[in-house]
Amino acid sequence: MLNSKGFDLWADGYDKSVDLSEEANEYPFAGYKKVLGTIYDIIKSENGKKILDVGFGTGILSKKLYDGGCSICGIDFSPKMIEIARQKMPNATLIRHDFTQGMPAFPSDETFDFIVWTYAIHHLDHSQKIRLIKESADLLSAGGKVLIGDVAFETINEMEKCKAQCGSNWDNDEIYPVLEVLKSVFPSAQFTKISFCSGVLSFTKRA
Ligand SMILES: C[S@@+](CC[C@H](N)C(=O)[O-])C[C@H]1O[C@@H](n2cnc3c(N)ncnc32)[C@H](O)[C@@H]1O
Repeated sequence: MLNSKGFDLWADGYDKSVDLSEEANEYPFAGYKKVLGTIYDIIKSENGKKILDVGFGTGILSKKLYDGGCSICGIDFSPKMIEIARQKMPNATLIRHDFTQGMPAFPSDETFDFIVWTYAIHHLDHSQKIRLIKESADLLSAGGKVLIGDVAFETINEMEKCKAQCGSNWDNDEIYPVLEVLKSVFPSAQFTKISFCSGVLSFTKRA
């Protein structure tokens, strides 16, 4: 698993390496643009204004939302990723924070219309994921959603098929979200398949 220094080193070449994997329709980034586009379309169609982007990286998704008039708050632990994103979004609130420690403390009345995790939540193990999805859902405004776009699957069986297809390219350090697994904790979670290895998961505020 990469630490913040590893992401610092990847930061300058990140967009290019994602593009190459995406264009070749290869794991892990096959469907990347459609994953981000699907999330963007949901936010726009539901008139989301206040967005929290967790693990925003170089800000590919949040910059588009920022340009579209959304207010952006972001969390990332890589100073280099933060520097790149800050140049693109000078008025965004970008917080340096390690999300393995949980969500940062926000003022008690602070809420977000959408909280997005794109290609970031796979850095958490299963119990950390559950904790962070719950903590994210607790930060939502009424009617808000947590949207996770990632290497993701509807069932364990589908993930195993993809893993077999990827062979030695499969990254055993990454723990991908699977709807079937998360449904036991979040029964109303939904999944949209985007490519053979990617999808978008959606969670609503807890009652
Ligand atoms: C693969 S990149 C995804 C970037 C962007 N969201 C995207 O869709 O292209 C993962 C990002 O999550 C950040 N990240 C990984 N682990 C983290 C952690 N424990 N706390 C905070 N940020 C983390 C990395 O620094 C990196 O910017």
